[in-house]
Amino acid sequence: MSTKKVTVIGLGSLGSALAAALLRSGNEVTVWNRTPAKAEALVAQGAARADTVADAVAASPVVIVCVFDTAAARELLEPVAAGKAVVNLTTGSPDEARALATWAASRGVDYLDGAVMAVPEAIGTPGAFVIYSGSREVFDEHRDALDSFGASHFLGTDAGVAEFHDLGLLSAGYATLGGFLHAVAMLGVPAQDFLPLATTWLNGMVAFLADVAREVDQRDYAHGASSVAINQVALGNIVHASRSAGVAPDLLLPLKELMDRRAADGHAEDSASSVIELLRPRVHPE
Ligand SMILES: NC(=O)c1ccc[n+]([C@@H]2O[C@H](COP(=O)([O-])OP(=O)(O)OC[C@H]3O[C@@H](n4cnc5c(N)ncnc54)[C@H](OP(=O)(O)O)[C@@H]3O)[C@@H](O)[C@H]2O)c1
Repeated sequence: MSTKKVTVIGLGSLGSALAAALLRSGNEVTVWNRTPAKAEALVAQGAARADTVADAVAASPVVIVCVFDTAAARELLEPVAAGKAVVNLTTGSPDEARALATWAASRGVDYLDGAVMAVPEAIGTPGAFVIYSGSREVFDEHRDALDSFGASHFLGTDAGVAEFHDLGLLSAGYATLGGFLHAVAMLGVPAQDFLPLATTWLNGMVAFLADVAREVDQRDYAHGASSVAINQVALGNIVHASRSAGVAPDLLLPLKELMDRRAADGHAEDSASSVIELLRPRVHPE
């Protein structure tokens, strides 16, 4: 691994963890934060503190920015001039990432957007990963440094793709979170007591996603292991049992309604994964 000069702007919870990981990998790290005191722990670990954003930008060929939102990142990147590379790890919308990439291109700055799929404590551990899109050149050139954070995945040259995938991963995660919380509320048991069974069950669900993915990509729902009709009954039972326990079935009702609509459309024997046909974008005639 080659040692690189890297600047990190933004030393909140995540930015500090990113800078610390870069230091652990042996990089020469320059840091800047609006509240200077947050740089102290990193300086003790070997980072150089810049007095101004301009000094921080000047110190390294690549500038990593990780602040509260895209508006703050855009403002802080003002001193970045042609020939520099920017890696923006601030969470934003796909459109915000594309707008920042366009702004960077107008300055002759290479722009890579990224979404960190880990909490600060997990940065640099095997479970952490970061998804990137935008400049392939920046990704390749600075790959060693980026790998300090966790596994690095390049998803394409459209700068908005990483943020869009972030939203996709969060969607899947929120469904799991919501389902777990609903189950605990409905059962009325301590969450920690339910956890071992839930974990075993969810691991099986994750394995089942391979079948779901194949069905959905091939739009072939004839051979699924679990039909719309079976899941209509299961979701109906959940809604009934929840209400009996005084628990609102709000999180599960939308899925039950999709199963009901699919059955009403004559697809009761299709695989449950076929509800995606009700979610896909509508193609409107001109
Ligand atoms: N924490 C996580 O688990 C996590 C995971 C994935 C992605 N992210 C994303 O990473 C980004 C940073 O998150 P965080 O957890 O590090 O947040 P944080 O701890 O709240 O830190 C926010 C950082 O932004 C800076 N900042 C805010 N407004 C600013 C402005 N107008 N000008 C200059 N600096 C400004 C803060 O500076 P001061 O110190 O001066 O206030 C601080 O360095 C967010 O986009 C977040 O969504 C976070």
